[in-house]
Amino acid sequence: MKLSEYLNKAYRERFAIGGFNFYNLESARAIVQAANLTQKPVLLMVSEKSIEYAGLDSILFIAEKLKKESKIPFFLHLDHGTHLDLIKECIKSGFDSVMFDGSKLPLDQNIALSAELRKIAHRHGVVFEAEIGRIGGQEDSIQARLFKSDPAEALMFYDQVRPDMLAVAIGNIHGERTAEEQLDFTLLAKIQDTVRAPLVLHGCSNRAEREYKVAISEGVVKINIDTELREAFVEGVKKALQERQTDPREILNTASSYISKRVEEKINIFSS
Ligand code: G3H
Ligand code: ZN
Repeated sequence: MKLSEYLNKAYRERFAIGGFNFYNLESARAIVQAANLTQKPVLLMVSEKSIEYAGLDSILFIAEKLKKESKIPFFLHLDHGTHLDLIKECIKSGFDSVMFDGSKLPLDQNIALSAELRKIAHRHGVVFEAEIGRIGGQEDSIQARLFKSDPAEALMFYDQVRPDMLAVAIGNIHGERTAEEQLDFTLLAKIQDTVRAPLVLHGCSNRAEREYKVAISEGVVKINIDTELREAFVEGVKKALQERQTDPREILNTASSYISKRVEEKINIFSS
């Protein structure tokens, strides 16, 4: 199954594919395990910081090995790509999908670079995600102020760039939830009515089930989860240490099982 076809199906039938961040073999395996348990495809997402941490070759090797073992297809995705050379390298080295995050650039530059990268991605059969507006909060080492997406600007951006998926900012922030943070679903509905295209919601850890469902009903086809999986990993490590586990492989297996459980819960919500 091709990712582009699956996304179109998700848009038509109103369900979403989970985009889950991984950093190493254990986290990747945990996500793929949840996909196999639920029998639903997922996006295995890697950020630039994680590529720096693990090395692009290792990331590609892990993904390739897991693809051979997995009974359910999953897709390797570059999350929040900002370095053009790295994005192009990912496109050419077998990623299924890439995101260009030009949200900190002036709008005309974001449009020009997104359009250029979309062409390169499509030439290689790679799905392309772009971002309009700016998602706030902390994502890896990047701290950003939130700027909500404007529907008219989103339409102009979409018409000129033609991404396969468009990430929008509707009050969503990366990292821990804050009391003040509110998703603006009226704005999301306006964006969908105006642009009429598959959308992406970032910063989706620890949200209420209802929020995911409303987002999906407004044409969100990809939902990104990172922080919640990191928290699950740490919880798992703590649990293993409380149980006085001493074998690093057992400690990491416990941590992985905590990630898997969280991913499984999300997939069930996103796909029902
Ligand atoms: O791109 C990754 C996500 O937007 C994850 O956001 O860390 O708030 O779950 P999160
Ligand atoms: Zn994000």
